[in-house]
Amino acid sequence: MESPPCVSIFLVLCVFIQSSIHGQSLGLDPVGRSRAVETKEALQETKTRFLLFEDETDKGCQIRLNHPDTLQRCGFNSSLPLVMIIHGWSVDRFLENWIWQMVAALKSGLAQPVNVGLADWLSLAYRHYTVAVRNARLVGREVAALIQWLEESAQFSRSNVHLIGYSLGAHVSGFAGSYISGKQKIGRITALDAAGPLFEGSSPSDRLSPDDANFVDAIHTFTREHVGLSVGIKQPIAHYDFYPNGGYFQPGCHLLELYKHITKHGLNAITQTFKCSHERSVHLFVDSLLHASQPSMAYQCSDMASFSQGLCLGCKRGRCNTLGYHIRQQRQGKSKRLFLATRAQSPFKVYHYQFKIQFINHLEKPVEPTFTMTLHGTKEENQKITITLDEEITSNKTYSFLITLDVDIGELIMIKFKWENGAVWTNVWNTVQTIIPWTRRPLYSGLVVKTIKVKAGETQQRMTFCSENMDGLQLHPTQEKTFVRCDMNSKKLKKKIR
Ligand SMILES: *[C@@H]1O[C@H](CO)[C@@H](O)[C@H](O)[C@H]1NC(C)=O
Ligand SMILES: *[C@@H]1O[C@H](CO)[C@@H](O)[C@H](O)[C@H]1NC(C)=O
Repeated sequence: MESPPCVSIFLVLCVFIQSSIHGQSLGLDPVGRSRAVETKEALQETKTRFLLFEDETDKGCQIRLNHPDTLQRCGFNSSLPLVMIIHGWSVDRFLENWIWQMVAALKSGLAQPVNVGLADWLSLAYRHYTVAVRNARLVGREVAALIQWLEESAQFSRSNVHLIGYSLGAHVSGFAGSYISGKQKIGRITALDAAGPLFEGSSPSDRLSPDDANFVDAIHTFTREHVGLSVGIKQPIAHYDFYPNGGYFQPGCHLLELYKHITKHGLNAITQTFKCSHERSVHLFVDSLLHASQPSMAYQCSDMASFSQGLCLGCKRGRCNTLGYHIRQQRQGKSKRLFLATRAQSPFKVYHYQFKIQFINHLEKPVEPTFTMTLHGTKEENQKITITLDEEITSNKTYSFLITLDVDIGELIMIKFKWENGAVWTNVWNTVQTIIPWTRRPLYSGLVVKTIKVKAGETQQRMTFCSENMDGLQLHPTQEKTFVRCDMNSKKLKKKIR
């Protein structure tokens, strides 16, 4: 993740920072909670436009608070859930393209139909960032008012409401959840890279928190800091907080790739490309609707460093979950931080594996650790994965790391392992061989890979691989060694290979 598009991050953040500096004197909580309750009864109409979509190409039909006829006209079905999309801060007063992709995916990608709505608060979001932040509370109040009115006039239950908020819209959802009156909470809130500036580190009542709905999930995709600020909020704000690729920055969003994008789509693509990592949260969610049978798995982990070592692929006691719409809605008291790797484009799913390779180094010299592996599965084989360990192998050590595959290779049955250090190491090897001519063949000499242990995250299967023949335990530079399963009997294995 080196060479980030500093320029773009910088520009986006400049706007944020500038806004927040200006905002300081404005105060951040002019629309207080108590005032919101007072004015709730009086709310006759909303500044937010609420739209319903009847089919995937529909541009929306406006429903109006206290106008039951609009519900009927727009095809609201009170026996179905309501999924409402809430956009974020606007820099151009246009509804962003992802909204239509999300509407289409919700309309076409679900086995159970839902009412799909949009809270269009562009007139309040196309403001200075700080002003938009202030307006977020007002819009939250209007969303809450709409839901209460639906309960009163259409026998609709708030537990059937799912708010999906992007960026600042995530906090709008949180405010809606906390402003709604009564003990019952709304059903679910999904936060798509909830906005960071002016929310990071604030108290739970001033941002989205797990208290705001029966179930809250969040996807964090752009939390890389610049001058102490990040576009997306870093801290956990949900029952399940997903950090794809660590959450800082997303694959495919690097400057070079962005330049290609601009070449292809012209200068109009610039604002789009600035938001690449931020908006990735949306596309991961849309992907979960479009590829429901191939959900992306994520695993609870303390940090990205441990995740990259493959140490966190466990699923016991609810430690893993699926990202997106079809998440297992199991409530936890505390926020759980889940990590996953993704591809750079849809379908984003990858298959996670932990590889634990036990090396025994009998060479005098440390070994420069570059290897390649070819993985053979029951469905497919995966060509050449290069592994570079971050330290030299000096003596006996077991290395653990995360390997991700874009395709499902089925059950892993064979590994071809090659020590890649070319000419330099061939020479060293030959030197070793001449200096110490082996009199009786010792069982281990030179560099030996004893076992390769593999854990597959997606299937939770554990496997052990050993060298095909015991004679050939030493690795020779550039020579490929075959490792086969040694944790099951060969009959069973042959059956699987068939
Ligand atoms: C509302 O949804 C239910 C459940 O899918 C369906 O049976 C019913 O026909 C729908 N009502 C209308 C008016 O479309
Ligand atoms: C490494 O392991 C081998 C075989 O298990 C053993 O003979 C050797 O003493 C070990 N070396 C070190 C430095 O632990």
